[in-house]
Amino acid sequence: VTEAVLKQLAGNRLVPVVVIDDAKQADTLATALVAGGLPVAEVTFRTAAAADAIRAIAARGDVLVGAGTVLTPAQVDEAVAAGAAYVVSPGTNRAVVERAQEHGVLALPGAVTATEVQAALELGLTTVKFFPAGTSGGARAISALAAPFTGVRFVPTGGVGTGNLGEYLALESVAAVGGSWMVPRALINEGNGEGVRELVAEAVALATS
Ligand code: 3PG
Repeated sequence: VTEAVLKQLAGNRLVPVVVIDDAKQADTLATALVAGGLPVAEVTFRTAAAADAIRAIAARGDVLVGAGTVLTPAQVDEAVAAGAAYVVSPGTNRAVVERAQEHGVLALPGAVTATEVQAALELGLTTVKFFPAGTSGGARAISALAAPFTGVRFVPTGGVGTGNLGEYLALESVAAVGGSWMVPRALINEGNGEGVRELVAEAVALATS
């Protein structure tokens, strides 16, 4: 199951990182993502609306929805109960990863150093989030880490945008790239689905060019 989710994430190349303040906007957001050609969402547990938004998006069945900014095992439980297909964390925490694995859900924790990558490997993971990508050495750092860790794949996130997306996606070791630039919080709050759709479509065009 987790392999299939990883494959889908890699196939889509992009992971929109969502901060949503009102779960009532979840449906408009999901419709915009699908219309823009990117049926994927990482809904972060930075707002109280996260679990309800995940629930609303998961119920549609047309978006690969996961939870982001998952810091505790309790949040893993909450995310999985809401229908999250994967759980993303800024760093690697054993308890969080193990709870996700108990649920049979993909864990995508952050790792930006060789020591952190080894910790993730020890937990049985082969793909990690590379966060925050921009301030952790960017594409050059990923290339350097990929040399010893031949089987490991990275999902750089943090400081990625239309200007540097290509640098990351050009790397064989990059499974997908995450970011919030195509799902601005303000547009989601306004219920501006067309604005989101346009940004999503632009990102998809860049990612597949
Ligand atoms: C995340 O949690 O993955 C980041 O906040 C996304 O980073 P960005 O806003 O720089 O894209």
